[in-house]
Amino acid sequence: MSQLAQLTELQERVNKLLEAKLNALPVNDEKLLEAMRYGLLIGGKRMRPYLAYITGQALHAEMSDIDAVACALECIHAYSLLHDDLPAMDDDDLRRGQPTCHKAFDEATAILAGDSLQTLAFDILAHHPLSAFAESKRIKLIQHLVNASGYQGMCGGQALDLSATGKSVDLETLKQLHKLKTGALLGASVAMAAECAPNADETQKRALSEFAELVGLAYQVQDDIIDITSSEEELGKPKGSDLEHNKSTYPALLGLQGAQQKAEDLYQESLQALARLPYNTQNLAEFATFIVRRTH
Ligand code: IPE
Ligand code: IPE
Ligand code: MG
Ligand code: MG
Ligand code: MG
Repeated sequence: MSQLAQLTELQERVNKLLEAKLNALPVNDEKLLEAMRYGLLIGGKRMRPYLAYITGQALHAEMSDIDAVACALECIHAYSLLHDDLPAMDDDDLRRGQPTCHKAFDEATAILAGDSLQTLAFDILAHHPLSAFAESKRIKLIQHLVNASGYQGMCGGQALDLSATGKSVDLETLKQLHKLKTGALLGASVAMAAECAPNADETQKRALSEFAELVGLAYQVQDDIIDITSSEEELGKPKGSDLEHNKSTYPALLGLQGAQQKAEDLYQESLQALARLPYNTQNLAEFATFIVRRTH
């Protein structure tokens, strides 16, 4: 199957599951549920679910276990975007080609929809049916997502991002900020899928997590690059938002060419980490290629 066909199939798989998860919720507040649906189901590349699925496939995990991981990751990601776009953070009006959630609804609803998607992620990890092996790892899966999304991960990175805004920070600070705000959740996509694989040993998990860390950092470096080089139409979010808000980014620190070289270096290093694995890692290598070549 081509990479595109596989991506489409797995995007559809997670989309169906996410829709079912929302449909299973009681309609206590119609507006809040609508905003959750808006933030979760409209658009999005589903890169974290995709990464979890192809890692699971490479390591011969049960795909039905990866379903839980994929849904939980995407709920956290969607919540992070709803909050990232708020006036108190990046103050952006466009996301996935649509008005941002706080524009389509209101700020309070966007905050609550984000909060509710965050807790839905942990609800899914706590309750989605798992195979006997993955069941024995349920708490570990929850712990991975806690670490990747909270103070030690994405939220911590978002705080560093905000405090670096309007300032010039050094490369080490910028790397740490990017690794936390974006790398942590991509890293968790791989680590959680590997956790569901009965045969993966610790050395292999280390090589995988090295791969994920490098790709996760490359993901945000490329996000900073396309903020400058792509069109608003292609991005589905405002072009030049980083510059306008004086964000600390790789292009701001290294120049556009320097940032492009950085993405390329990270890509090459990520392939070296993959080469240490005794599995068919072609899909993971193609994922890394996609990340550094993407224009949206
Ligand atoms: C955007 O993430 C924010 C970052 C963490 C870089 P994506 O590029 O994965 O956005 P969607 O989910 O496809 O909209
Ligand atoms: C956001 O990074 C990372 C998150 C944790 C949501 P950005 O602020 O660069 O993401 P975009 O460019 O708005 O998608
Ligand atoms: Mg941001
Ligand atoms: Mg933003
Ligand atoms: Mg960005």
